Amino acid sequence: MSGIQERQYRLSKRLAQLQPSATASMGGRVAQMRAQGVNVLSFSLGEPDFNTPEPIKAAAVAALERNYTHYTPAGGNADLRRLVARQAAHDNGVAYTPNQVTVTSGAKEALYLAFQVLCDEGDEVIIPAPYWVSYVEQVRLSGATPVILPTTEATGFKITADQLAAHTTSRTRILMLNSPSNPTGSVYSADELRALAEVLRETDVLVISDEIYDAICYVDYARWLRVAPDFADRTLIVNGASKSFAMTGWRIGYMAGPDAILGPVRSIQSHSTTHPASIAQAASQVAFTPSEELDRTVKAMTQAFHARRDLIIEMVGKIAGVSCTVPDGAFYVFPNVTGLLNRPLADGVVCASSLDLMNFLLDKAHIGVVAGEAFGAPGYLRISYAASEADITEGMRRFAEAVQV
Ligand SMILES: Cc1ncc(COP(=O)(O)O)c(C=O)c1O
Repeated sequence: MSGIQERQYRLSKRLAQLQPSATASMGGRVAQMRAQGVNVLSFSLGEPDFNTPEPIKAAAVAALERNYTHYTPAGGNADLRRLVARQAAHDNGVAYTPNQVTVTSGAKEALYLAFQVLCDEGDEVIIPAPYWVSYVEQVRLSGATPVILPTTEATGFKITADQLAAHTTSRTRILMLNSPSNPTGSVYSADELRALAEVLRETDVLVISDEIYDAICYVDYARWLRVAPDFADRTLIVNGASKSFAMTGWRIGYMAGPDAILGPVRSIQSHSTTHPASIAQAASQVAFTPSEELDRTVKAMTQAFHARRDLIIEMVGKIAGVSCTVPDGAFYVFPNVTGLLNRPLADGVVCASSLDLMNFLLDKAHIGVVAGEAFGAPGYLRISYAASEADITEGMRRFAEAVQV
């Protein structure tokens, strides 16, 4: 049997600026080293290390057994859409109808389709940095231009109203909000959101609020639409089952907002993915049905993340040359590592950037973290603490040992 003779192809112009996902590529390198027998501890992936709760899994098995294996409508089956509309209404205080929600293959598809439906060349999308890696690439694929607003620890990695006002122009189409944030774990307060709303009120800028980490929050969570309800007709809420219910592999996300936007989203969906897998939809019906048992499970996971956050903050805080703000949500810490750069570390190695440091930590300490460069924030590392306390303790011990002189 002959194989394919690989050669160069003319690829679409849209691909020219596309960067591969840095988090996925670190995951691949960790897997490769493990396959070679190296004991690598990974703190690079953005997913809960818990298993999907049993009642959700049982619903998937039952769906298979009753042969719920056929096409469903684009945007999700009617029962799931009703449940998601109820959940979105409960969260945001907006009475969404089932046509004002769309179920997607992960929150990632929801975001991708939103940019496809709303953006044209010449439009600008404001993205606060540090940002989740896919926003920028998805905006570019839509033809629009990402406008990055950098932030630092000084503002808790949050944009200010002044900064937003200074960058809002007639070309601004969308403000991208993500609270709790990947990669910083920062959470906007109600006052901070109110100030941003004030800036946008006199404009026609739309808001996409990515609330995928809402269940993993250690402070009172301020929701965008609770603070700025008058933005309901120009806000898309993005959320899903991936992080709250430890369901990353099931690929269930959703978007809530005006039908005039979500209808076209479903049209593209009907010509591309059609809908998320029927079995995953049946399982997530259980996830989105109010249940005290599931509430308890989700709370227990959040409590475990909280304890791990405290542990990792304590350990990272003891490493000379590293400083770290205390994140209020998600499961990442985002330490400033500039104090470790341009000076000899263990074995006399000198790292000029956080990217170099990331590679050094993988080679020398066998720990996988992601350099801030991937999130538009050089000088930092993103360390996911969705890992056991034993792994966090050993991993941060290795980190400290590798950088001490
Ligand atoms: C901020 C943020 N938004 C969206 C997503 C995508 O979630 P999903 O796995 O449901 O596509 C992620 C996943 O890491 C994320 O961190």
